[in-house]
Amino acid sequence: MQLNQIYNNDCLSILNDSKKIEPSSIQVIFADPPYNLSGNGLKSTGSNTGGDFTMVNEDWDKMKETDFINFTNEWIKSSKKVLKPNGSIFIACSYHNIGESMMSLKANGFEVKNIITWNKSNAMPNLTRRVLTHTTEFIIWAVKGKGWIFNYDKLKELNPDKKQDGTDKQMRDIWTMPLCQGKERLRGEDGKKALHPTQKPEELLKRIILGFSNENDVILDPFAGSGTTPYIAKKYNRNFIAIEKEEKYVKAIEKRVVNTTPS
Ligand SMILES: C[S@@+](CC[C@H](N)C(=O)[O-])C[C@H]1O[C@@H](n2cnc3c(N)ncnc32)[C@H](O)[C@@H]1O
Repeated sequence: MQLNQIYNNDCLSILNDSKKIEPSSIQVIFADPPYNLSGNGLKSTGSNTGGDFTMVNEDWDKMKETDFINFTNEWIKSSKKVLKPNGSIFIACSYHNIGESMMSLKANGFEVKNIITWNKSNAMPNLTRRVLTHTTEFIIWAVKGKGWIFNYDKLKELNPDKKQDGTDKQMRDIWTMPLCQGKERLRGEDGKKALHPTQKPEELLKRIILGFSNENDVILDPFAGSGTTPYIAKKYNRNFIAIEKEEKYVKAIEKRVVNTTPS
């Protein structure tokens, strides 16, 4: 199989093509799938930094609930096939899709190890004023079998919280970091509007890739979006496979990855 590839396709067709991704070849999958939330909330737009869930209103993010359950189950089943026996999967979710993701992981024989809570330090206020402000998303970490990679000392080093004497502290399962903004946020052709509505912070992928894989391992992202996963994988000397079905995002990933120099 060819490493460091960006496929412009539906993830199921690539995940199920053993010439493109060999069975048991992937160390870490980071999946940031559709949350199936678009069209369910306010249709307000105008956030250039990415914000409350209500700001996401994309065609790729709208399915009937039964179709969404089947889709979640299908891509998680196919992901298991390509993971190494000691591989890890990380699934980004909100309250909208955490139930479907957990059920599919269990139904496909994964063992859930942690649910990381991403505490968004710059979350948008809630416009309806009828519910609590949404400030969290979750990343489920699950393993296929025994012997998973867990770089304990590296994660301690990456933990910004230190002990009183300044030494490293164990990484906890609550990660506080802002929504992707400023220079890190990719912009569209007008240089203003965010290129992708749900670009994930680089720091999130840095912790996952450095904490749960080693150099030269293969990292797969079946819903690559703006390409945060392949970008960070290359930066930290990992191989990557990225799948994204929208051509405009594939072009953005190609540009982002080509310009990356491994550190
Ligand atoms: C939540 S976004 C991922 C954002 C990404 N993590 C980032 O940092 O930019 C999900 C992406 O999956 C893509 N997508 C949706 N369904 C897909 C499918 N069946 N196969 C491949 N890509 C898909 C969408 O076009 C969208 O860009």
